[in-house]
Amino acid sequence: MSEQKIHFHDMHPTANDLLEDVITGLQKSPRSIPPKYFYDEKGSQLFDQITELEDYYPARTEIKILQECKQDIVGLLNKGCMLIEPGGGSCSKVRIFVNELRPKMYVPMDISKQHMLDSAEQMSKEIPWLDIHAVCNDFTFKLVLPEGLPDTARVVFFPGSSIGNFHPQAAVQYLSDIASLVEESGQLLIGVDLKKNKNILERAYDDSKGVTAKFNMNMLTRLNNELSADFDLQAWNHYSFYNSEQGRIEMHLKSMCEQVVCIDNHEFYFAENETIHTENSYKYTIEEFQSLGVEAGLCAEKVWVDDDNLFSVHLFSVKSK
Ligand code: TRP
Repeated sequence: MSEQKIHFHDMHPTANDLLEDVITGLQKSPRSIPPKYFYDEKGSQLFDQITELEDYYPARTEIKILQECKQDIVGLLNKGCMLIEPGGGSCSKVRIFVNELRPKMYVPMDISKQHMLDSAEQMSKEIPWLDIHAVCNDFTFKLVLPEGLPDTARVVFFPGSSIGNFHPQAAVQYLSDIASLVEESGQLLIGVDLKKNKNILERAYDDSKGVTAKFNMNMLTRLNNELSADFDLQAWNHYSFYNSEQGRIEMHLKSMCEQVVCIDNHEFYFAENETIHTENSYKYTIEEFQSLGVEAGLCAEKVWVDDDNLFSVHLFSVKSK
């Protein structure tokens, strides 16, 4: 029998208050639903499909940067580290450099339990030497490691421009949570989407194959299934645009007509064209993002970009106090 290389830590992400969160969000003005509810089993599958789309340049560009700059990146990262990936439920991008980096262990964290377990198991088969500690938690809420992991230098890998899904002020808070997690001499390797031509941006969030639309609409399917809501899927559309003032892509679900939706004992009236805001994706220049990092107590070490200036991968270290 070979040694067990895969461990699972269920940190029981707050027994989801889907109902309460949805009711609260829909009572707000403007209305919203927390984006973490995108990621049920189906949503996680659809999201993986988004990352493979030609129109969704962030994923393929980030992969290209990681591949082409691998030597340089690995050369700067702590050897024998604990490599932590918040939101790493698919364990995909880390494969690009994990053989060269040879971390002591890999710690993917994700809210979508089964999805992460399946990917971690697959990864363990492909990379048998790697110690994997898969953690099921709400990494956007609280960044904590399970107890009993060895004391070794920590590196957080946060790809996919997921940091762009936080409001800038919350992003600073999250970056400083990462700084506390990795501690002094720790590092952060983070992918950040760059500001650019509006058409390229908007195409990435309303792709020609309609996968992003399906992903956004899946939120309503989920509410129908899990809360017995009665959203008429024909009466809603995916709606996204670049808000240049705020420097962000906004994702909404738009009501195509005047309608009433029932969830639990609540009735919600929607006017025609009224929207439910489901996600933001902030875009940064290199300098803007570096100053967020500095505000969070991080030190900008290096940044890699592709030839077309579409995407950036930053390396930060934690400043000694
Ligand atoms: N972090 C990704 C991004 O902002 C998440 C994402 C991509 C996303 N496409 C989406 C989130 C569509 C919601 C809807 O690019």
